[in-house]
Amino acid sequence: MELQNRREFGKKMLGTTLNYFLLESLFTSQAFASSVRPVATHWAKQLTEICNDLKLQKIPPVLWQQQVEKLFNQIELPELLKFIDFETLTRGFDYPDLGVNTRMVKFPKLDGLPEKTVFIRKIFGMKKGRAIIPHGHSNMSSAHLVLKGEFALKHYDKVAEEDKYLLIKPTIEKTAGVGSSSSVSDEKNNIHWFIANTETAFTFDVIMVDLGGKAYDIHNIDIAAGEKAGNGLIRAAKLDVETALKKYGKQHH
Ligand SMILES: [Fe+2]
Repeated sequence: MELQNRREFGKKMLGTTLNYFLLESLFTSQAFASSVRPVATHWAKQLTEICNDLKLQKIPPVLWQQQVEKLFNQIELPELLKFIDFETLTRGFDYPDLGVNTRMVKFPKLDGLPEKTVFIRKIFGMKKGRAIIPHGHSNMSSAHLVLKGEFALKHYDKVAEEDKYLLIKPTIEKTAGVGSSSSVSDEKNNIHWFIANTETAFTFDVIMVDLGGKAYDIHNIDIAAGEKAGNGLIRAAKLDVETALKKYGKQHH
C-alpha cells in the first residue's frame, strides 16, 4: 500500500514538473513573440525585401547599402539583441587568438517571415587587438552593425583588380562604437578592416553573395606594405589566408 502511494505520488510529481516546463516554455515563447512584435518583425520583413530586391537586381548595390544601413540605424539595439538572441549566441563564445570567430544568426519563426532568406546572417566576435583582416570582395555586398565594444574601422574603394594586386583608395577611417554601421559592395567601400579596441567586440552582419549570378570571392590584401600608385591610390598585394592572418589577425606591439 505504501509503495503504491509512493508510486502515485511520484507520477503526480513528474506530471506536475512536465506541465511546469511545458507551461514555462509556452509562456516564454509567447512572451518573446509578443515582445518582438511588431517592431522587429516589421524590420526583418523590410530587410528581407531589400535583400530580395538586390538579388533580383531591382536595386543597385549602393542603394542596398544605404537602405540596410538605414534599417540598422532605425532599430533599437536592445530590440535587435533580443531578436537574434545575442545572449545565447555569445554564451561560451570561442575567441580565437588570431582573427575572429563567427556564429550563424537565426531569426525567430514569425508570421510572414520566410525561414530561408537570400541573405546570410552572422555575428563576428573577437578579442581586443584582433581583426577582421583587410580584405576586398567580388560579387558580394555586406552590411555591418557594431553590437558590442568598439573598433578601429577602415574602408577603401576597389578601383581596379589586377592579377596579384588590388588598386585601392582610402574612403573611411573612424572609430566605430556600439550602433555604428558600415557596408561594402563592388561599387562602394569594397575593402574593410576592423580592429577591436575593447576586451571583446561584436558585429552583426547581413551578407549577400553570388550577386549578378557570379560566384563571390574574397581577397585578403597587404595594405601596410602597399605601394603608392599616385592620386592617393595604393597598390596592395593579395595574400593567402594564413599569411594574412599571421600579419593582420592580431596587433603586434
Ligand atoms: Fe568582408
